Amino acid sequence: MKRTIIKNLLKSEDFDRTVVVKGWIRNRRGSKNVAFIALNDGSTINNIQVVVDFSELGETIMDGVGVGASLSVEGELIESQGGGQKMEVVAKKLVVLGNADPKEYPLQPKKHSLEFLREIAHLRFRTNTFGAITRIRHAMIFGVHQFFNDRGFYNIHTPIITSSDAEGAGEMFQVTTLDEKNPPLTEDGEIDYKKDFFGKKTNLTVSGQLEAELAALAMGQVYTFGPTFRAENSNTTRHLSEFWMIEPEVAFNDIVDNMDLAEDMLQYLAKYALDNCMDDIQFLSKRLQEEEKGKKEADRSMELIEKLNFVVDNKFERVTYTEAINILRNSKPNKKKKFSYIIEGWGADLQSEHERYLVEKHFKKPVILIDYPANIKAFYMKLNDDGKTVRAMDILFPGIGEIVGGSERESDLETLKSKMDALDIPQDEMYWYLDTRRFGSVPHSGFGLGFERLMLFVTGMGNIRDVIPFPRAPKQAEF
Ligand code: 4AD
Ligand code: MG
Repeated sequence: MKRTIIKNLLKSEDFDRTVVVKGWIRNRRGSKNVAFIALNDGSTINNIQVVVDFSELGETIMDGVGVGASLSVEGELIESQGGGQKMEVVAKKLVVLGNADPKEYPLQPKKHSLEFLREIAHLRFRTNTFGAITRIRHAMIFGVHQFFNDRGFYNIHTPIITSSDAEGAGEMFQVTTLDEKNPPLTEDGEIDYKKDFFGKKTNLTVSGQLEAELAALAMGQVYTFGPTFRAENSNTTRHLSEFWMIEPEVAFNDIVDNMDLAEDMLQYLAKYALDNCMDDIQFLSKRLQEEEKGKKEADRSMELIEKLNFVVDNKFERVTYTEAINILRNSKPNKKKKFSYIIEGWGADLQSEHERYLVEKHFKKPVILIDYPANIKAFYMKLNDDGKTVRAMDILFPGIGEIVGGSERESDLETLKSKMDALDIPQDEMYWYLDTRRFGSVPHSGFGLGFERLMLFVTGMGNIRDVIPFPRAPKQAEF
């Protein structure tokens, strides 16, 4: 007999029939004569209760079989006698597929810390919390593609190995096959990358944007959704060294169209989560409320479902950088020197403490900040008529800070070239990018949404390492 997925079984109204379920024991209780097993197969946060009557199946059948063991059970699906669950499976045949020594199995049916679970990432899929996150992550990937497909965007696979630094921040992981102990040298004694695998120095991409721009300037509306890599040494709860980014790029869009698209997308995705992941979100909401019990009222975050609805229902606040600096300069934490970085004046780069102040304390809703000083933003952003600000936009979210970064792009060849000169970006190596401005250039815009930052928002988790199955961070590449 084929097994029934537990999620489907729990929806069933069709009792008194034989079914096969397979899964892992989440909990086991009972008496001398009978065991009640909570079995989970990953398809849902909910378990199916399996009843094992020892007088039917043998006294010793469950000896030494505890949490973590995997079972195949054939039995009768009946309406449950006891409270707490709608149905249960009364086992007729039971096979222990793989036992897990109860003395050694690291996961017990009690609360484990997230830090501990990160050390056993190979087993944390078996927890309720990480199971919920994994299912939500899948749904959000699907939601992203649905959003763009419905609007006629094309998904573009941009390269993972590149020779450019799209963001110009120099935070790249190098890719090479040269012998590290004995690399070929040029006459000047420098490493000769002409002899490297690709005939030039290459790295893992920090963004698919530049290539997406090439596609947008022919295909109209495109998006990438791929892994990106950054060798920044930031050990924070919001940074990963390997993360996934969604980057739409649209020909003929200006910065206002760009803001509209990003806002529409974030609202769509929050609603998508509510519509498709309610069981898991409810579980994570309860979890978060438990965790925050000890905190002061003012420090507690908004309840998860309320927070998602809040984003769906409220327009984001659109504010210029200059306005934001004025708000921050006159803010209490700035005057009382509570910020780690005091805002002295125009031109300062915003830290996450400032971003969160604007969102959580001042505006109390998501904020889109535009028109940043040119010199704190990337080379490709369109210069405003004032000659000192660029059409950048960062979207700031409660509890997270920056969730989206984007801009209208500089579409004028000469302006772009002088910007690259000023920043020492070699034009000859970037000829392929400049060609889009040489031939049929049009105004265009795009942005990047950090997928794990979106996941932080949707799950209410506090650490970005808990929303990706195998986090990569400084000194962390286990599993
Ligand atoms: O602001 P960023 O650096 O923008 C770009 O890479 C542009 N090329 C995007 C574009 O216009 N197409 O990164 C975009 C987003 C950030 O807002 C943040 O959500 C996320 O990517 N991000 C990170 N997420 C996790 N770990 C990191 N180290 C991240 N760095 C950026
Ligand atoms: Mg950014």
